[in-house]
Amino acid sequence: MDTAEMIREDIDSWETVIFLYNAALKEVNTKLEILNDEFRHIHKYNPIEYIKTRIKSPESIVKKLKRYGYEDSIENMVSYVNDIAGVRLVCSFTSDIYRLAEMIGKQSDLTVVSVKDYIKHPKESGYKSFHMLVTVPIFLSDRVVDTKVEIQIRTIAMDFWASLEHKIYYKFEGNAPEYISRELREAAGIVSNLDEKMLQLNKAILEAKASQEKAEKGYEYN
Ligand code: GTP
Ligand code: MG
Repeated sequence: MDTAEMIREDIDSWETVIFLYNAALKEVNTKLEILNDEFRHIHKYNPIEYIKTRIKSPESIVKKLKRYGYEDSIENMVSYVNDIAGVRLVCSFTSDIYRLAEMIGKQSDLTVVSVKDYIKHPKESGYKSFHMLVTVPIFLSDRVVDTKVEIQIRTIAMDFWASLEHKIYYKFEGNAPEYISRELREAAGIVSNLDEKMLQLNKAILEAKASQEKAEKGYEYN
């Protein structure tokens, strides 16, 4: 059963929908924390810096439905607004993004509905992130409801850019002067260079550490 089928049978549907999306956020959040703990346990390294979750505000939901040309009904909202429940996964390095996406894709109780790779194909604005739309089964007392969650995976640097760009752009309500958009794209380029630099540095440090350990071991045997 999906969320739309469920609310057709429900009188208190707004509360039910929000309850379901909250449950879905809890499920996904816990799954991600467990994956992070397991990774730390095995590799002595945690790929996730922090996780943010949020439920979209009713105003934003209505705004989005209007933009898509749909009437604001609860049925339209669960059918067409895919990011009512949102999880943002912020990690250290670009390589962690794909590692996490793969780990999420392999979870047998999650269904990946769609994927958008704005890292390989950044948006016109300069925006970079990896988006996954998944459904998670919510086990109620008498049924199971598959509920949508949008997962955005990005590095700290990408998150820094996206948060500030959102704030700046918001002030212009999408009509920023061309030079502002251009400079924001330039800033996105700087952020990408920084990510690349940190990734290389991390690689160099790991290699240096490994050869140091090897040398120390050799010394012990002599
Ligand atoms: P909406 O853009 O949300 O209508 O839906 P969509 O189906 O086009 O999804 P998309 O994957 O393009 O973007 C969804 C979310 O990604 C947004 O709600 C933002 O959180 C984020 N996002 C997308 N583009 C940008 C951008 O240019 N700047 C910032 N700061 N965030 C963006
Ligand atoms: Mg969009």
